[in-house]
Formats: sequence, structure tokens, C-alpha cells
Amino acid sequence: MDKCQSCNKIILSDYVFCPRCGNPLKPGYEAPATMGSGAACEDDAVRFFDLARNLSSADNIDQLLRKIGTAAESILQAERSAILLLDEQHENLYFKTATGEEILKKITIPISEGVAGWIARNRQPLIVNDPYSDSRFSPETDKKTGYKTKSIAGAPMIAGSELIGVVEVLNKKDGQFEKCDIDNLTGFAGLAAVSILNTRLRARQENILSNILDYLVMGSEAMGNAEGTSKGHTWEMARMASVMTKEMQLSEETRQTVHKAAMLHDVGFLGLENPQLLGFEIPPALPDEARFRLHPVIGSEMIKRIKPLAGAAPYIANHHRYKNGEGFPENISPASITPETEIISILEDYLTCRDKNKINFERYSGQVRNAFLKTVSD
Ligand SMILES: [Fe+2]
Ligand SMILES: [Fe+2]
Repeated sequence: MDKCQSCNKIILSDYVFCPRCGNPLKPGYEAPATMGSGAACEDDAVRFFDLARNLSSADNIDQLLRKIGTAAESILQAERSAILLLDEQHENLYFKTATGEEILKKITIPISEGVAGWIARNRQPLIVNDPYSDSRFSPETDKKTGYKTKSIAGAPMIAGSELIGVVEVLNKKDGQFEKCDIDNLTGFAGLAAVSILNTRLRARQENILSNILDYLVMGSEAMGNAEGTSKGHTWEMARMASVMTKEMQLSEETRQTVHKAAMLHDVGFLGLENPQLLGFEIPPALPDEARFRLHPVIGSEMIKRIKPLAGAAPYIANHHRYKNGEGFPENISPASITPETEIISILEDYLTCRDKNKINFERYSGQVRNAFLKTVSD
């Protein structure tokens, strides 16, 4: 059993480069370049750059990877393509996308075996034009799918120093795979690696943001009984806000911002507990009512600092302020109140007022009043 001298990962298979940090494990090997020329064949450059342009706007990674595979098949004149990913243990490759057999998606290939394994271990592209007479080829996958592999071109997907997987195309339709094919395939492997890495980073960021949101909501729920509300006030507001925004036919982006604002509208109570930690100066002898009236502005300032949530800040600031000049904070101009921000204030009014008959619905715009009445009557 070997250990990488650079990152100490235990290496169980016959790697030439460490699968975690890319450090060469055997003498005489240099870290390979991660991308080739990308569009070595000029006629194919347009399609290649078209795919590259799609990368930043790709919401659906599987769709984009299938596009990369289809373009690789077409440009390399191959029957099939596959994108294989390295698992978290860096021991097996599994199919992320593949043309042909569905069964492929259930197959894993040990890194120590086959042409894909060789490409991953060596971090080098490879052409095998007569696989059944090549010792690096494993016929196991063919046995499982019934497909006869006659030629293979493959390239490693590397992002930074991290090996992500392997791109392969199978069975050249006319003749044999050549150097030009490998240059193109290395470019496709680079595109696939960047797309996969972007998607993973985005998922990680979304996970962090969703945890931050949960902690803030739990915190503000715990402190929010200053409004006399019961447990679940925040989630009930978010549920009703979602119905109202649908009723008002707001854009998807606005609906999401209103949802975040509903979840975070009372987060200021959390900031009021330890205002000095957030840089707010609040006189310790401030009467309770005056202190309570600070929660919209403190909450809004807290949320402004978290960029992906910052759009919710004006809704939070305005959630106790009304178009007719009533409410607080008094320094917010009633002219800045919009029907969208009124969604949060009308729901706050409804959910915190013990005597619903005393709610002054006249202080809300007609559109919001109607959407609210429809929401509570459903
Ligand atoms: Fe509030
Ligand atoms: Fe509230």
C-alpha cells in the first residue's frame, strides 16, 4: 500500500498520479496538461465553442453532458460516447451519461481495470484501435451490455489538480481514431470537467445558503414571541406568502425573494439579542416598545450583508410600515412601499393580530387585499 507524498492519501490501486491532489507517484512522470487544443480540427471549432458558451448557463448538468457526448460522437465520427465519474473513494468509475445501454448506468468499473481505468490512473488520453488484443482492455462491460467494442478513444477529465473522471468514445465509424481525435476529445473532457465542477460548487453553495437560512429561521422563531406569535409563525407566513404570490402572478424570481423575506422577516429579533456583535449600537436602557420597533431595520441590515439573500432586505425593513404613513420605522417613506412588500406586512398583521376584526385592511393596496382575501378563503 502506497501513500501520496504530497497529500498523504493512501493509494490502493496502481496509480501513476494521486487521484486527490495530482502529485506524480512514480518516477519519470510529470503532471499532464488538463486540456488539449480543444478544437484542433478547424471545422469543428464553432460547435466546440458553442458548447463552451452553454457552460455558464447550464441548469441541467445531465443535459449539458449529453450534449458534450453527442458532439464528441459526431465530431469524432464515433458510434457511442460515455462520461464516467470517479467515486468519492477514488476507487471506481461509474457512468454519468452514456449512449446506448441503460444498463451502463448501473455498472461500476474498478480504477485498476480497463482502458478507462488506465486513463484515470495515468491522467493521459489514450487510443486503442484493437481492444481485444490490448492487455489494458477489459471485456467485462461488453459482456454485460452485449455491445462489441472495436475501437476506443478516451481522455481524463481534470479540473485544477483533481481527477473527476474519463470521457470515452467508442467505435470509429470509418477507419481508426487518430491524433486529431485525441486533441478534440481532450478539449471535450476539459469542458465536461468544468461543467461538473461548476455544478458541484453551485450545489455546495446552495447547501451552505440553505443551512444559513435554516439557522436564521430557527433563531428568529425562538426570539419572535415578542410579537405574541406561536411556534411556526415564520413557516405559516412563508406558506401563505407562496399562495399570495401565485395569486398575484408574480415572476418566479420575485416569488422566491418574497418567500425568503417571509422566512426571514423577524430575523431582527435575533440581532437584538446581541446587537454589539453585529456592530449596532442600541442604548441598554431603551424601553421595550422602542426596542421592539427596531427589529425590521436590524433584520434588514443583517440580511443585506448576505449577498444571495440581500434582495429580501427591503421587504424585511417595510414589514411593519404602511402606505398611509402608519407603522414603523417612521423614517421609511410610505412611497417606497410596493404591493410586493405589502405581502409580508399584511400577513404579519393577520398572523400577529389577536382580534382579526380590528385589522385595518384599508391601508393595503387593492391588489394585495384581494390576493390576501382569496388566500384566507381557500
Ligand atoms: Fe415583525
Ligand atoms: Fe412576524
